[in-house]
Amino acid sequence: PESITVQELANRMAEKGADLVKALFKMGTAVTLNQPIDQDTAELLVEEFGHRIQRVSDADVEIGMQGEDDAAETLKARPPVVTIMGHVDHGKTSLLDALRGTSVVSGESGGITQHIGAYQIKTKGGDLITFLDTPGHEAFSEMRARGANVTDIVILVVAADDGLMPQTIEAINHTKAAGVPMIVAINKCDKPEANPQKVRERLLEHEVIVEDMGGETQDVEVSALKKQGLDTLIDKILLQSELLELVANPDRAAEGNVIEAQLDKGRGAVATILVRRGTLKVGDTFVVGAESGKVRAMINDQGQQVKSAGPSTPVEVLGLSGVPMAGDQMTVVENEARAREVAAYRQEQATKKRTTAAPTSFEHMFSALN
Ligand code: GTP
Ligand code: MG
Repeated sequence: PESITVQELANRMAEKGADLVKALFKMGTAVTLNQPIDQDTAELLVEEFGHRIQRVSDADVEIGMQGEDDAAETLKARPPVVTIMGHVDHGKTSLLDALRGTSVVSGESGGITQHIGAYQIKTKGGDLITFLDTPGHEAFSEMRARGANVTDIVILVVAADDGLMPQTIEAINHTKAAGVPMIVAINKCDKPEANPQKVRERLLEHEVIVEDMGGETQDVEVSALKKQGLDTLIDKILLQSELLELVANPDRAAEGNVIEAQLDKGRGAVATILVRRGTLKVGDTFVVGAESGKVRAMINDQGQQVKSAGPSTPVEVLGLSGVPMAGDQMTVVENEARAREVAAYRQEQATKKRTTAAPTSFEHMFSALN
């Protein structure tokens, strides 16, 4: 609503209507209790009375991750979400591919796997691990800036022949800022010029102290090319995730975050969603960023249609009204009217933000938040 009557505002603030009329009179506005006042005037009044401005619809926007916590007895173990970071050409994609090759699931899919920016592997022991594929540092910090700290563990890939490079250091800083544990994968150890010890020493300079050096950061020598050290890396991920005691309530309306989204010829707006808690189901009505929709179909990282997706599961979702942004939050709501209402409000807020404070660059926005 664009306006509110003095009485309504008084009720919301738990103040006497007459006191508001008096205050307004002092501000040079003569109104009666049932007369509407505009938003600016209302805001002035609210501040005058020492209240905090919180529009009713803000609560709608905040629904989700910031919302109520799940009761302890509803929580169940969930797979870790692992992001791979590192300098250009140090072997992130190769390592992801190699790890995926170890998955018992991918062995069955016959290689017709669709790239959806996120995928899950099933280890020989039957544990699931979710990997976020090559998000790039910008996407990572963008998601953080949007409050979407989706990563539980970062794998820092450092090529043993090249050593620490600018983007390695950037990745270290992003990881520290996110407060996420790191596992160092020293890659390309098959190369004759590889010098893993030098990598460990250089890491010290950036306060990343590996276990061998008396620190707590796990490290592992690997070769994505020769598929060496992969089982050890997986073991370390599982060990780390055990320490984190990762849990979520799978039995509630789903919430998740957009990993990537695009307009697809024929299929319309498509988003890869990482479910954070609850279970997303076909037919669910949702809000995602400033868009809304109804889950028409879901496709897993094996390219198969699925009916539901639980915590830490990445799925491609069809049925969106438009393309949301990476990091946007998805929240399942009770009905379409509600979805449109929240989406419209978010769209309005987004437009306002764009016209008022456009950050000069993403890095700028990122540092402003720290
Ligand atoms: P960007 O996505 O461009 O940042 O690169 P990336 O980090 O994903 O590296 P990518 O996996 O594309 O590998 C870069 C090059 O290094 C390729 O030519 C790989 O074949 C090679 N490479 C990756 N891992 C290994 C390894 O363990 N040993 C050797 N010898 N070469 C490797
Ligand atoms: Mg790559």
